[in-house]
Parts: sequence; structure tokens; C-alpha cells
Amino acid sequence: MTNSNIPVWFGNSRRIHLQEVGTRDGLQAECAFVPTEDKIALVNELSATGLSKIEVTSFTSPTAIPALRDAEIVMREIERHPGVVYSALVPNLRGAERAIDARTDELNLVMSASETHNLANLRMTREQSFAALTQVIGLAQREGVAVNVSLSCCFGCPMEGDVSESTVLAWAQRFADLGVHGITLCDTTGMAYPTQVATLTRAARLRWPGTELTLHFHNTRGMGLANVLAGIDAGANRFDASLGGIGGCPYAPGATGNVCTEEVAHALALMDFDTGIDLPRLIAASKRLPALIGHDTPSQITKAGQRLDLHPVPADFNAIRSRALARNAEPVH
Ligand code: COA
Ligand code: ZN
Repeated sequence: MTNSNIPVWFGNSRRIHLQEVGTRDGLQAECAFVPTEDKIALVNELSATGLSKIEVTSFTSPTAIPALRDAEIVMREIERHPGVVYSALVPNLRGAERAIDARTDELNLVMSASETHNLANLRMTREQSFAALTQVIGLAQREGVAVNVSLSCCFGCPMEGDVSESTVLAWAQRFADLGVHGITLCDTTGMAYPTQVATLTRAARLRWPGTELTLHFHNTRGMGLANVLAGIDAGANRFDASLGGIGGCPYAPGATGNVCTEEVAHALALMDFDTGIDLPRLIAASKRLPALIGHDTPSQITKAGQRLDLHPVPADFNAIRSRALARNAEPVH
């Protein structure tokens, strides 16, 4: 929990972990299939930027998410950097077996806090999902693989509307009781707003101080970075983000990209938070992304540059200055 006397805009070198989800949340939504060797090269580039965790891919049904049908090869062939956790989204037992077989460090299990979204995304009721994921957690624990549970639609459902805080906390509690390593509160379609984020984050930190808490925001309504700052102020230290701000759940109407990794890293660095990110390297990786996915990305930083990337003065600047200074010499009427 943060000291309430220290406002959020002074980071005081506090450690904030950024977790890349562009290679999963981002690429799953792309029409074009990014070639397997390009995915591997991208993960390898990202591994060298100082990210704490990379959600490399998802072990879902290849019919449901064809863009990530090469999950095994990608997970097996990436270079593993010490200190980086390589995770993957897993929807069921079959996915867990595939992920463990491919040497995934952490299984990211997914279900929704909203019944309607859970049915649309996973074709199961929440109770059915919970029963299935309980089996997956059992398998992971026997195999000694860490488990994170991502709860979708924690800040609202695009089909149901508001999802109550008590509903979110009750589902998270059931997973905490099973001994999962981490819980992610996901704002799947950008419905979260800062005061709501602060309340839910504080409640989660109080209830599960020993569980890794991640916040996962989409910038659908322009509140992504504001939500990150509200989360930090309320005690969260881990955030999912995607390179270039790409992404979005294919089963959530109106979903758009995650908060953009380089935008969050850039803002937090200015505010003296320690993200461990090599920003020029991350921005360089993001600039190569449009060539891979075949279109521009929402990243503002790749377009505008960093705050102090200065521009040359106009070519006729000296003449402008001379004329301006000459005006001082003219008599005032
Ligand atoms: N890996 C590979 N194949 C899988 C699989 C997995 N994890 N889970 C299911 N399949 C295959 C089955 O073998 C079956 O194949 P077949 O038709 O060739 O026999 C097919 O998918 C359907 O399986 P079924 O058990 O009936 O599942 P389903 O159709 O109800 O699908 C999900 C359930 C959740 C596995 C599937 O919808 C899915 O992967 N969805 C993706 C969810 C997602 O990632 N959303 C975005 C992130 S939030
Ligand atoms: Zn998401």
C-alpha cells in the first residue's frame, strides 16, 4: 500500500513491473497471420527491453484463435532471458498440457467475472469454467508450474453493464483459496475509470497482500493511462500492456487495444518510477510492428517521440530573431 501522503506523481524510484501482452492479446486480434519466425524474433527483442513478464502466446483451440495456432513452436524456440517470466494464456486442461509441454513458466488461466461474457468467450457458465480451471490448477501445482488467473470484465461487461465489486472479489477469492500465485483484474473492453480502479485495487490489496496482483487495461475510451496511475496510487505494482497499444478480445464487442507499453513506460519514467525498461529499445521494437501486422498502431510515442526528443528550429530562425530584436530598437509611438 502506498503512503497516502506521497502523491502518485512522485515515483521515488518505486518498482513497477510492466508485463507485455502484445504477442498474445495483441496478435490474437490481428487478421494477418504473423509468421512464426517473426513472432519468435519479436519475443526475443522484447526479452531484451527489461520487461518483467511476456505473455508469449495462447494455447487455445486453433479454430477459435487461428492467429496463435503456432503456440508450441513459438514457446519452444524463443530465447529465455533470466529474470523474464514467459507466460501463456490457457483456457482448459488440453491447453495446460500443451503449455507445460512447451516449457511455459506460468499458465495464465482465463475466465470472466461476467456470466454473459464468459459464455460468449469460453462457451461455458462461470461455474463450469471454475470447475474446469480447478482441474487445471491441480495439474499445474502437481507439475510445479505457476498459475495466474485473469478475470475478464472486472470493471464492466460490454453486454451486461456494471459488474459489482462483490462479484469480482468473490470470484477472485475462490481462486486465491486454491493457492494461485497471481490474479489479474482485467478491463477487457476499456470500461474502467480511475476512481473505480482505486476502490477495487485497494480492496484486492487488502484481501490478498501475498498474491501477485496485476491490472490489465484497454485504452478503448482513452482512460488507460489514467487508470494505471490510479492503480499505482492504490498500491498496484504490476500492469499488463501491449507494444504499440495493439490488442482486443475477439469475443468482446467494441474491444480495442491494451494500454501501450511504451506510452506507460515513458510516462512512468518521467514520474521517477523504476520500470527497468530500456525505452529506446522498446520504441525501436514498436516501430517495427506495423511491418509485421500490416497496419499502423495506436502508439503516440512512436509518432511524437519522447518528451525531450527535440526538433530543429525553423530554417529562417535567425532572420525571425533578428527582425524580432530589431523591433525593440524601434521608437514606441
Ligand atoms: N488446444 C487445442 N485444441 C483445443 C483446445 C486447446 N486448448 N481446446 C479445445 N480444442 C479443440 C478440440 O480438440 C476440438 O477440436 P476438434 O473440433 O478438432 O475435435 C475443438 O477445439 C472444440 O473443442 P471443445 O472442447 O468442444 O471446445 P469449444 O469449442 O467449446 O471451445 C475453448 C472452448 C475455450 C477451448 C475455445 O473456444 C477457445 O480456445 N477459445 C479461445 C478463447 C480465447 O482465447 N479468447 C480470447 C482471450 S480472452
Ligand atoms: Zn485484454
